[in-house]
Amino acid sequence: MTDFEIRPICDAIGAEVLGVDLSKPLAHDVAKAIEQAWYDHVIVLVRDQDLTLDQQHAYAASFGEVAIRHQSTATAHEQKASNALMLITNVRENGKPIGTLPDGEMMFHSDTPYYENPLKATLLYAIDIPSHGGNTMFSNSYKAAETLPEDIKHRIGTKKALHIYDYGNQHKTEDSYDKSVHPHFAHPIFRKHPETGRSALFVSELMTEEVLDVSPEESRELLDFLFEHQSKPEFVYEHQWRPGDIMMWDNRCSVHARTDFPSNERRMLRRITLEDDHPVLAGEPPFHEAAAQ
Ligand SMILES: [Fe+2]
Repeated sequence: MTDFEIRPICDAIGAEVLGVDLSKPLAHDVAKAIEQAWYDHVIVLVRDQDLTLDQQHAYAASFGEVAIRHQSTATAHEQKASNALMLITNVRENGKPIGTLPDGEMMFHSDTPYYENPLKATLLYAIDIPSHGGNTMFSNSYKAAETLPEDIKHRIGTKKALHIYDYGNQHKTEDSYDKSVHPHFAHPIFRKHPETGRSALFVSELMTEEVLDVSPEESRELLDFLFEHQSKPEFVYEHQWRPGDIMMWDNRCSVHARTDFPSNERRMLRRITLEDDHPVLAGEPPFHEAAAQ
């Protein structure tokens, strides 16, 4: 048994694992404990790691099948390094970004909800971090779901929402994107987590465009309410990156956003993702039984 410790980060979301060296293969019991902490806390942070791409890949593979990227969206630099890698960086060569999502703020989203089978997990490893800003905010989508007013829970109960994304956008720039061009899919607004059985709120400001089976006006009203609700500070942890941090988050029950940072300072993180071996499941609205009487 390795001497390691798991500590909650804050009330909203997250746990930190201390006393592990992810450059070495994880003992089975340690991997299981980290996985359970991830189910319990939604995001899991390990600090002070020194990882090659292969070592990050091996850590990710402890928790599922590593996803291969759609090559049409990967830069030549990323493809050369690995078919699983996304570099989140503002580093440019000959004026062109060598990676993806280079600059500035990014609205709340989960990763790839616009596909039928969205990614289960994302593992982001920090290499170069600016002197300030470029933080990642993580919001707990279980808590967002559970704390909705009961009338909103009734209104969105079994409804679905349409997710669509104009690739590379960091802010939603149009009310509706062209479905003949951009990837899109409708999923239940209350999503059941396949491992915990809990219902999470599965929408985000960047990628959710429409509540289906209501009027356009009601869809807009509901989404505005849900986006404002999920960004409340009591559900959110804002992570200030340090080089050597690796964070694993669960795209089924969290959303994340990025704060602005100086464009003239280098920022580089390596992203690897995991496929979900479960389909998206509809969740029960998390009604408060007593309040519903
Ligand atoms: Fe993301």
